[in-house]
Amino acid sequence: TWTTDAFVEEAIREIRARVGNKRVLLALSGGVDSSTLAFLLYRAIGEQLTCMFIDQGFMRKLEPERLVKLFREQFHIPVAYVNARERFLAQIQGVTDPEVKRKRIGHEFIRVFEEESRRLGPFDYLAQGTLYPDVIESADTNVDPQTGERVAVKIKSHHNVGGLPKDLQFKLIEPLRKLFKDEVRKVGRSIGLPEEIVLRQPFPGPGLAIRILGEVTEDRLDILRDADLIVRQEINRAGLYNELWQAFAVLLPIRSVGVMGDQRTYAYPIVLRFVSSEDGMTADWSRVSYDLLETISNRIVNEVRGVNRVVYDITSKPPGTIEWE
Ligand code: XMP
Repeated sequence: TWTTDAFVEEAIREIRARVGNKRVLLALSGGVDSSTLAFLLYRAIGEQLTCMFIDQGFMRKLEPERLVKLFREQFHIPVAYVNARERFLAQIQGVTDPEVKRKRIGHEFIRVFEEESRRLGPFDYLAQGTLYPDVIESADTNVDPQTGERVAVKIKSHHNVGGLPKDLQFKLIEPLRKLFKDEVRKVGRSIGLPEEIVLRQPFPGPGLAIRILGEVTEDRLDILRDADLIVRQEINRAGLYNELWQAFAVLLPIRSVGVMGDQRTYAYPIVLRFVSSEDGMTADWSRVSYDLLETISNRIVNEVRGVNRVVYDITSKPPGTIEWE
């Protein structure tokens, strides 16, 4: 029978045998797969592993800080933190088209990844959190004809773009390739990852940048981060975080009139998008209670500067997508 302890032991043995005294690069994303991977690799090969975390500036409030702190202070795993916030924002300045936005972010990710891996490297292996379902259909790897090893020609980064240059084609190490998601969660939990990582709701690679419709600015990011934090707090308080596939806030780049005290306001609306789903392919809008919606709405309008209206998205997928961009 499958146990997490047996898996961890076996994975560590396998990593050591494969890697020898070579160096491995891993890009942390903040999710359960890359976090579990980092833990296994560090246990197996220690300082031969370099964990890199690229902060695009589009994560949720305090998430990058927490992630780095968790690894450095609790797991004692060093993390190369790359603050790329300004460059990413500069790339999408003035961009309103969702596809262009995604592409620019994806390409910038590859550029930063390339630069940083050259700076920190050279590396022999790239560790990826490939899971069993990805192995079955993976178009992003080639097999080296001489060694039979899988070689990364693209990085799996939740951005569907970007080939790596010829001289940066690492050999892949994929210790999670025999696992399903629920098994990774079990392993993650057994090694002490916090629930907020183990059970994190899906979060798109371009992050909050695609939850701000139209142009992304520092000011709009601040507003959305604050609204998103309130959503998360209240969803947690209501015990719904694990029941919902996703629950998040979207900022619309329009303004409407409101009144606060005896002052007229003219500010952004926030959309609440709460859905249930099995796999993200189809989704149903969630019938959460009016009381919960009222609490969230009151808190957002009162606590978040620049927002004077909250609306609830009652569109299922299809025809709506889960994200708004
Ligand atoms: P849609 O909006 O297409 O989303 O209904 C389906 C699921 O995919 C997630 N999503 C992404 N995940 N990179 C990701 O890693 C992306 O660019 C991306 N876009 C959407 C979305 O959050 C939902 O769970």
